[in-house]
Amino acid sequence: MSAPPILLSTADIQERVTALAGEIARDHAGAESLHLVCVLKGAFVFLADLVRALPMPCTLDFMAVSSYAAGTTTTGEVRLLKDLDVALDGRHVVIVEDIVDTGLTLTYLQEILRARGPKTLKTACLLSKPSRRKVDVPVDYIGFTIEDRFVIGYGLDYGGKYRNLPYIGVLD
Ligand code: IMP
Ligand code: MG
Repeated sequence: MSAPPILLSTADIQERVTALAGEIARDHAGAESLHLVCVLKGAFVFLADLVRALPMPCTLDFMAVSSYAAGTTTTGEVRLLKDLDVALDGRHVVIVEDIVDTGLTLTYLQEILRARGPKTLKTACLLSKPSRRKVDVPVDYIGFTIEDRFVIGYGLDYGGKYRNLPYIGVLD
């Protein structure tokens, strides 16, 4: 099996994630700490790099939702598979997601998390495919805007594979 072609290199990603962390820290300068909500499984690598680049106290929590069953198309239905461990009221929350595609997953997540009364709620997405959007969802921090290609690596998968690639590659 040959290695998938590189869309974004490890160095490209590191540089951008560091810049995003700087933006997030500036926007939350008055906050005593940040609460990052990682959307499993795809965002785990992004979260790991982002949290280590944030120069302020952070707490973490994880949730899982269903998006793609096994292929490359979405059903449009979002299901909560794993909920958060702690309540959000009074916290400065940042949702950490791998990619916003149709926008259905993030719309659902923002709705249910906003209802839990965080002090502030922002969203950070490593990748965005705007040409695929079905719902207009606000994303405060976007790493890279990409074309409509199916991407894998750096946490993103195809059928559960490729999450461990250290760069973002394209599957055709
Ligand atoms: P949305 O609900 O259509 O915005 O889908 C978002 C979810 O679909 C992401 O969290 C990913 O898990 C998955 N996804 C969308 N595009 C890709 C891709 O190019 N590669 C891997 N996963 C993707
Ligand atoms: Mg995801």
